[in-house]
Amino acid sequence: MLNLKSELNFGVNAELYKKFSTTVNSAEIGFFHLPANKTYIKESQDLAANYKNKKNIYLIGIGGSSLGPKMLVDALKKNSRQFYFLENIDSTSISDVVANIHFEDSLFYVVSKSGTTPETLAVLNIITNEFLKQKFSLSDLAKHFVFCSEKNQGDLFKIATQYKIPHLEIPLNIGGRFSVLSHVGLFPAALAGLDLKQLLQGAQELAEIISNKKEKAPIFQVATFLHQNYLEQRNQTVIMNYSNKLKTFNEWFVQLWAESLGKKQKGFTPVTAVGTTDQHSVLQLFAEGPDNKSYLFIDILNRPTDLKLTSPFPTEKSQQLGSYSLNQLYQAAFAGTLKSLQEKNRPLIHMQLEKLDEFNLGSLIFWFECLTTINGQLLEIDPFNQPGVEASKKYAWEWLNNSRR
Ligand code: PA5
Repeated sequence: MLNLKSELNFGVNAELYKKFSTTVNSAEIGFFHLPANKTYIKESQDLAANYKNKKNIYLIGIGGSSLGPKMLVDALKKNSRQFYFLENIDSTSISDVVANIHFEDSLFYVVSKSGTTPETLAVLNIITNEFLKQKFSLSDLAKHFVFCSEKNQGDLFKIATQYKIPHLEIPLNIGGRFSVLSHVGLFPAALAGLDLKQLLQGAQELAEIISNKKEKAPIFQVATFLHQNYLEQRNQTVIMNYSNKLKTFNEWFVQLWAESLGKKQKGFTPVTAVGTTDQHSVLQLFAEGPDNKSYLFIDILNRPTDLKLTSPFPTEKSQQLGSYSLNQLYQAAFAGTLKSLQEKNRPLIHMQLEKLDEFNLGSLIFWFECLTTINGQLLEIDPFNQPGVEASKKYAWEWLNNSRR
């Protein structure tokens, strides 16, 4: 479970919980109830069991349709399967990937909630053309592709229906960036060997804490803390975690925080860092640059491995390190960073994950989805829409139509 280590000694307005509860229990917003939904676990596991012989998994999707699955796989993949995420339409990297696909061993998981995002449909076209150049025909798509989208008029759903491609549904009330604990993330997580029950259990326990403790749940204090700092011109949110395996978690957070909260001339700019590496990069700015940021530090209490730092060298600092382990050095570096920022009166929150596993990652994901919702309400914006993104997609289609040759 994600624990709040910082002490925040202030009360929270009960209205904040009421507003949150009304929203997440409304029919239009579905993410809060995903952890209790065991059907998606079974459907994802049953489908994944059909692809035991697939060594390579290609996910085609972008934004909320890719970042969540990528975060789960990068953090906790348990098997030797190779995962490739075809997100950006950079022709050089797509060409490189396409040139090396071994179709027989590969499964293509195509995710788009709308089923109409141009980048995703473009990559699907490219991959399918290559597929058809090999010994396959359109009737073979059903064995090598799985689609995930809304059941709607979008192209993905229509193609899946026409060619009998296995289709996983994204409910209407689950937005892209809040979809990782639905089929969107659970199916690839099952392919990567994750324990789906534990993943949802971590989120569910947090949902229960929030529902039981109401505005006394610490998450409401954190949201209020961030908002108070926002009102004092600190409109950047730094998230700094201490595991290479959580680098993609940072990417997922950037989308969640920016796309949900950046509206009506308001919003927080997300800034990410990974320790200890970035202590030797952006930390100087954090400590002595402009006082326009709040900081969320995520520490990991227990790590599965450790290494002794015993030194073969007689030099002073090497010998000094020799009596410690790598994890102790990490603890020292983490504590040192917190102290140096506290000394400068930087507003920071220290959170701790017991360890990096499915249960704790589920809790971390869900905590940030709820925090985003609460901070959206404090900003008095709708955290669940993305008109700026939709406008860009619409104009891209218009541009293509106008330049039709
Ligand atoms: O979070 C969102 O809603 C967006 O970032 C979408 O995930 C992204 O634009 C991709 O859309 P779709 O899933 O419809 O292809």
